[in-house]
Amino acid sequence: MFLCPICKKEMRLPKCSCGHSVEKRNGVWQLSDMPDMVKDGDGDKYIGYEDIGEAYSGNRKYVIEEEHALIAAEVSAYTGDGIFLDLACGDGFLTVPCAANGTRIVAGDISNHMLSILQEKASRNGVSLENVTLCRMNALDIPLTDACVDVVVANSVLHLISNPEKVIHEIYRVLKPEGVLLCLDDAPSQQNEDPFDNSYYHEIVNSLYATYWERLAAYGIRPVKYSWRFDRATVCDKLFRSRTEKVIPHSGTYKFPLRDGFLPRFCGRGFSDQTDVPKPVHDEVIRALMAEFREKYGDDFDATAFYGNYNDILMTIYQK
Ligand SMILES: C[S@@+](CC[C@H](N)C(=O)[O-])C[C@H]1O[C@@H](n2cnc3c(N)ncnc32)[C@H](O)[C@@H]1O
Ligand SMILES: [Zn+2]
Repeated sequence: MFLCPICKKEMRLPKCSCGHSVEKRNGVWQLSDMPDMVKDGDGDKYIGYEDIGEAYSGNRKYVIEEEHALIAAEVSAYTGDGIFLDLACGDGFLTVPCAANGTRIVAGDISNHMLSILQEKASRNGVSLENVTLCRMNALDIPLTDACVDVVVANSVLHLISNPEKVIHEIYRVLKPEGVLLCLDDAPSQQNEDPFDNSYYHEIVNSLYATYWERLAAYGIRPVKYSWRFDRATVCDKLFRSRTEKVIPHSGTYKFPLRDGFLPRFCGRGFSDQTDVPKPVHDEVIRALMAEFREKYGDDFDATAFYGNYNDILMTIYQK
């Protein structure tokens, strides 16, 4: 089911009949030699998370969230004894709980570092990856043969690629007839009004964010938002045979302290608009900023939490 990165013909890992041997580095098949990110030039651009991945999920990167287990149950049920392609799988929010369900998975991402976090997450949760083939791959050029997978999820990645239409066409190509692309969104809240007052949390976050970029402006550094617009419905409705929707119920309240979410991500340069900030300058500005905020808001200001109600999850199912 794999395509050789050199001759582009079908191959069995690790050795292609053209003579190329695919390297397996730290458990990950190296099926692309494209850069970790491409920000400039005339060709397709994308933002891989090799540099910002460590901080992407804050302090919860090894936690299997209840919400993710709920989604994984659906993905595993759709996959049955077929194959699930977790495209741009990141740190494995779906791959790990789906692997725990015994699902056969190809998990691909352009970032080896994200794939290593995925492996650590599996190991810390006692989940075996024996049914999972981990691949460094580019979603713009999926190294899989036509019609070989049953289910694809490409969550939170299409906005990071300048040519998302091409990715959707690649997904369509690798899906078997009647295979499905599953898309996940928050379902609109059932609550009429938000019962929580998060104004103190917002005050701190907004102030941190504004002060950080003010300080960096003195160095001539500004935030650059790497994100491309994409109208999923228009592209997918044209290509796929059918679209249906399913709501996965998810209720309850969550509490997200600054120290678990926003702060480790922000201080670890984990937001994509921080991509161009050089680490030494970032570290210096953050050091000063944290001292000032502890002074102003108290030593345990990082315990300030955001409270919210979970939304149901809306799953859109595009069938080939
Ligand atoms: C925001 S994260 C989402 C990860 C995961 N799907 C999730 O929902 O948690 C985006 C991921 O897309 C990956 N990525 C970006 N461009 C890519 C590309 N062209 N091919 C494969 N992966 C890519 C990044 O490395 C990163 O792991
Ligand atoms: Zn070959």
